[in-house]
Amino acid sequence: MEKLLIRGGNSLSGEIRCSGAKNAALPMIAATILTENEVTLKNLPFLQDITTMFELLGSMGSKITLDEEMNFQISSSLSDFEARYELVKTMRASILVLGPLLAKYGEAKIALPGGCAIGSRPVNFHLEALKQLGAEIELVNGYIEAKAKRLVGAEIRFEGITVTGTENIMMAACLAEGTTTLRNVAKEPEIEDLANFLNSMGANIQGAGTDEIIIQGVESLGGTDFHIPSDRIEAGTYLVAGALTGGNIKINDINPEKLKIVLEKIRLTGADIKTTDNSIHLTMNIDRPRPVDIETSPFPGFPTDMQAQFSVLNALADGKSIIKENVFENRFMHILELNRMGCDISVSGNLANINGVSSISGAPVMATDLRASASLILAGLCASGETIVDRIYHIDRGYERIEEKLRYLGAEITRLPN
Ligand code: EPU
Repeated sequence: MEKLLIRGGNSLSGEIRCSGAKNAALPMIAATILTENEVTLKNLPFLQDITTMFELLGSMGSKITLDEEMNFQISSSLSDFEARYELVKTMRASILVLGPLLAKYGEAKIALPGGCAIGSRPVNFHLEALKQLGAEIELVNGYIEAKAKRLVGAEIRFEGITVTGTENIMMAACLAEGTTTLRNVAKEPEIEDLANFLNSMGANIQGAGTDEIIIQGVESLGGTDFHIPSDRIEAGTYLVAGALTGGNIKINDINPEKLKIVLEKIRLTGADIKTTDNSIHLTMNIDRPRPVDIETSPFPGFPTDMQAQFSVLNALADGKSIIKENVFENRFMHILELNRMGCDISVSGNLANINGVSSISGAPVMATDLRASASLILAGLCASGETIVDRIYHIDRGYERIEEKLRYLGAEITRLPN
């Protein structure tokens, strides 16, 4: 298995470009199932999760090509409506094809995703909402088997806030008969991105990004040409790297509005942050970050996908802090590895109590999920000596060319072959 070798201690400086957002791109790729016309996606990040989603669509009959400008063309006239366990087990976001398949082809068979390293992650809210749109759903031999003649619009209130659940139902409702109103929805920027994408295909969606989304069903959707917006979590991760290493870094192609609360919290650690419409410039002028309490919640709250990175920032801060994880029940797996590097963090339920330490030392550590891997790399950048991060296939799922970008900013980081 490939590993990353990091020699810590360098201060990061320079400018990098933010890549396209994984969590915006995945539902858009799934949404191409809603039309037989060609869709062009620009600024797609080169990531393992994107390849897995292409593999899934390809296995059902989609044709995917890459042009000379590195844009992807997708045409989906499907003959197979099954997402097999072999693919779903490697990427839970495969569930995103359920809504589009049902809406366009009236049937879908999707392996039921199991739990994963960060929690049990059921999909009951997706299934309940699809039933309210008229789908018949059964669980057979570990698969969700769903059928519907034509989905019919309904008023749906989600029992809990879910990002991919909101996306699945938004996509399904585009081709349903009549109007669908969704309440208690997710408001993440990726929801608005998906609505913009679907509207560019001819859908009629209003209210994405607010508490209520209204979708007027249409008979069919057409092709489109769409630029994937940038990845707020990638940008946030590099900003934390800058703050941790006493750095001076500028991230281009990122709208700072998407990172409001993250920027507020990084400022509280002592970093100076300047923004334009599409860039963020961070300078860290103090030796050690100040501690900052964090509590994760759905957008516009503090993103759970930035919690592990802030664990490292607080672990090296001058004082104590508390992190409360409210979104996933088991998202502190990185803490045990951070403690092996000399951090002083104790976990009790969904709370992490952090005593900041002034230095940590490199160690062999193991990545357990995508954002946990990012936090171990951040820790390696500040540790004395060598850190080797194992199981980096997790990082390749969601960070485009991370070692190249970090090296460009001055880090000493190398990928070790198998
Ligand atoms: N939940 C249920 N039932 C459901 C759906 C969700 O109980 O039917 C619970 C989950 O178990 C969790 C909470 O609701 O406790 C929120 O889960 P949500 O459905 O919002 O998460 P998701 O849609 O599976 C997306 C991102 C995650 C990100 C979360 C929260 C994608 C592809 N994934 O997951 O991204 O952490 O929203 O913002 O968009 C990552 O990129 O590292 C990542 C894990």
